[in-house]
Amino acid sequence: MTLAPATAFYQDANFVAILYIVAFSLFIYGLSGLTGPRTAVRGNRIAAVGMAVALLATFLIEGMGNWVLIAVGLAIGTVLGVPSARQVKMTAIPQMVALFNGVGGGAVALIAWAEFNETGGYAEEPLTFVIPSLFAAIIGSISFWGSNIAFGKLQEILPGRPIGAGRLQQPINLVLLLVAVAAAVAIAAGQTSGIYIAAVLIAAGLLGIFVVLPIGGADMPVVISLLNAFTGLSAAATGLALDNTALIVAGMIVGASGTILTRLMAEAMNRSIPSIVAGGFGGGAEVAGPGGEEGGTVRATSAADAAIQMAYARQVVIVPGYGMAVAQAQHTVREMADELEKRGVEVKYAIHPVAGRMPGHMNVLLAEADVPYEQLKEMDEINGDFPRTQVALVIGANDVTNPAANTNPDSPIYGMPILNVNESESVIVLKRSMNPGFAGIENELYFDPKTSMLFGDAKESVADIVSELAAL
Ligand code: TAP
Repeated sequence: MTLAPATAFYQDANFVAILYIVAFSLFIYGLSGLTGPRTAVRGNRIAAVGMAVALLATFLIEGMGNWVLIAVGLAIGTVLGVPSARQVKMTAIPQMVALFNGVGGGAVALIAWAEFNETGGYAEEPLTFVIPSLFAAIIGSISFWGSNIAFGKLQEILPGRPIGAGRLQQPINLVLLLVAVAAAVAIAAGQTSGIYIAAVLIAAGLLGIFVVLPIGGADMPVVISLLNAFTGLSAAATGLALDNTALIVAGMIVGASGTILTRLMAEAMNRSIPSIVAGGFGGGAEVAGPGGEEGGTVRATSAADAAIQMAYARQVVIVPGYGMAVAQAQHTVREMADELEKRGVEVKYAIHPVAGRMPGHMNVLLAEADVPYEQLKEMDEINGDFPRTQVALVIGANDVTNPAANTNPDSPIYGMPILNVNESESVIVLKRSMNPGFAGIENELYFDPKTSMLFGDAKESVADIVSELAAL
């Protein structure tokens, strides 16, 4: 009797399939944890364990080799990925996501290229292999180059304003798409020359660059989410080509969640996805002076006056925005809320779905400062409360409070749902200057007679208010 080698059990296709099922279950369970800030970290860790299981299962597949190359790849990824993920500032997460997402798309495009070379230009391969592989090459290349441009804009390596060829832009993009698709069709029809796959990858890459360049910085988080969905779809297509279930399931999860997120963000900004991709909105921040086109006057206040105004209010609604994140003021804001509550003031937080620069940005920051979750009110819930609010304290939020979204049909943000802070009895705005927010437009709220401005860094201003409250 001969015994099967000990490795046979691990390399059994069914065993690998079981490990993959364990990995998907962990991905999905982990993802469900991302629905709230309290469970998000645990959810992330669970999904990471799922990814480790999927990696292990892939290494067990029969025929795997090149262990030195794999080890070098893992080492480079770890050395680059771990420190950058640990050191990145919360406000820079969107560009980090863009970069990581781009790497995923690039990997998928490279796999397609490698498969093309390995199989002699897909010479003997069935169309069920060739078509998904070419799809992955096109979408992966668009995603890689587009994500790099998005990264460059958010990191301010490239200008945030729309950069495009005007009316020629759409025809140029159409030609590039046609070149990529025509070269792919030629390969599927039997062409085996490397020039064709190079044409697919280069035309798709240029398309990724030319689609993202004309999009303004304000729309970049939506674009990143869209490219993320693209990367997921291209990974799923690679999974189909290579008959790898892990890639298919993980790719579809990324594709589906990226698509849902893109839609939610676009809806919260009242923009359609085609209008975002067509570009030209935001990012070219113009500096507005007090009394600029509006011709109004701006009333400045002091920390002492703001403290008195809030200490004698029944209800104060705090409206956090991107500036609170920049100033990292969340812990000081929590201290201020504690001081106010000690005096019997009811404190609530109004959370706009696109306040900050990424979905859930404000929830994460406030959870970090241990703000009770019940005090965080979604836009629809809090908007009815503003008329009963004595003071709305706007901390580094701008566009999400701009009444022009409700009143001015010519405004680029017209129709975007906003927090109706102007319906409160009084408004105090904490920001450093009269500069506009992300959309690059003036905010008429600042010229409203019931608004007063406390100029300065949000953290310093809130700390001053805390001292004044303590001294009252
Ligand atoms: P913004 O409209 O960008 O305004 C932020 C304000 O914070 C600025 O006016 C700035 O004024 C102020 N600020 C910056 N640093 C500060 C500091 N250290 N201390 C005090 N104030 C500071 O922010 P928002 O109201 O949160 O709106 C978010 C914008 O991003 C919207 O236009 C939204 O459409 C867009 N967006 C968001 C997302 C997601 S998912 N969140 C996705 C796509 C687009 P000063 O320079 O005068 O200080």
